[in-house]
Amino acid sequence: MRAVVQHGTGGPEVLKVEERPEPARREGEVLIRVEAISVPFYETQLRAGMLSGGESAIFGHEAAGVVVEADDPELIGKRVVSMSYVGGAYAEVVASGRYTLVPEHVSAESAVAAAVPASVALVLFRTADVGDGETVLVEAASGSIGGYLTRLAKDAGARVVATAGAGKSVKGADVVLDHDDPDWRTQVPDGIDVVFESIGGPRAAEVLPKIVPRGRVLAYGLLSGEFPVITVADLIPRGLTLIGFGGPDAYGKDAGAATGEALGLVGDGTLTPVIDRTYALDDVVEAHARVESREGVGKVLLVP
Ligand SMILES: NC(=O)c1ccc[n+]([C@@H]2O[C@H](COP(=O)([O-])OP(=O)(O)OC[C@H]3O[C@@H](n4cnc5c(N)ncnc54)[C@H](OP(=O)(O)O)[C@@H]3O)[C@@H](O)[C@H]2O)c1
Repeated sequence: MRAVVQHGTGGPEVLKVEERPEPARREGEVLIRVEAISVPFYETQLRAGMLSGGESAIFGHEAAGVVVEADDPELIGKRVVSMSYVGGAYAEVVASGRYTLVPEHVSAESAVAAAVPASVALVLFRTADVGDGETVLVEAASGSIGGYLTRLAKDAGARVVATAGAGKSVKGADVVLDHDDPDWRTQVPDGIDVVFESIGGPRAAEVLPKIVPRGRVLAYGLLSGEFPVITVADLIPRGLTLIGFGGPDAYGKDAGAATGEALGLVGDGTLTPVIDRTYALDDVVEAHARVESREGVGKVLLVP
């Protein structure tokens, strides 16, 4: 089969399409003939060596396709989306023990575009317990998780202050700030109840004075390449709560358990995946360059 193999860390050109043996399925796993693969932003950081992650011969984590082998014969022919911690997704065939059935009328492209970000957004949103009339700050709302958080917050009756790259709009947001302006946090209005923090970096705490007493911060990303620097001294004076989201429990178990529900919300039209461009697997270098360029809005996908 054709698969994308990472040769060291660096620019998109370290990813090479090669012939590899098809993976062998172990008990409990399904073998998937892949129809669509997601290229999330964090994979460009992994490839570049900015994030540590599980190394594997074949790159990539999120793929959707049709089951061709399984313990349960009823699964054969069904479409699933697979989310792996250990790579292996940029390939024509994937063996996966962490997969979710896709509703019948949802395409592989929509499923793989939405599965991880929509389930993470659902769990983050519930953890934040956003109420009617509250104001939320959604960082990087031009991205997938931020876009779904914006939709969920609006549906709950909240006001949304969003950030996005220069010139980008955010559907449903009441205010959009340009997060490429290094001083964007000074423009955040007062009275924020909840911050969905995904940009991180040494200036993250500058937004805290905009949060109401007993407000909540949910930190889950490091788009700037660094964790948010927030200290207990930043939180105590106004009784703020900081919750970190990630790792095998929050991401692995909680978001994993919410994936079926998230795909159901895609199926019934509540959440709409936005797809920027779709590339052939052979054009993986261009696909990574597109994500890194930050010129588009929505998911970049690969099709084998
Ligand atoms: N904790 C967890 O369990 C978990 C799970 C999944 C993902 N994540 C993290 O969640 C974050 C968002 O993921 P996603 O899937 O929504 O991303 P995505 O759909 O791939 O979109 C990328 C987003 O990142 C923004 N961005 C890129 N570089 C930036 C920078 N230097 N400063 C500010 N914004 C920047 C882009 O904004 P513009 O292009 O508009 O500038 C865009 O909104 C990532 O950090 C990812 O690693 C965490």
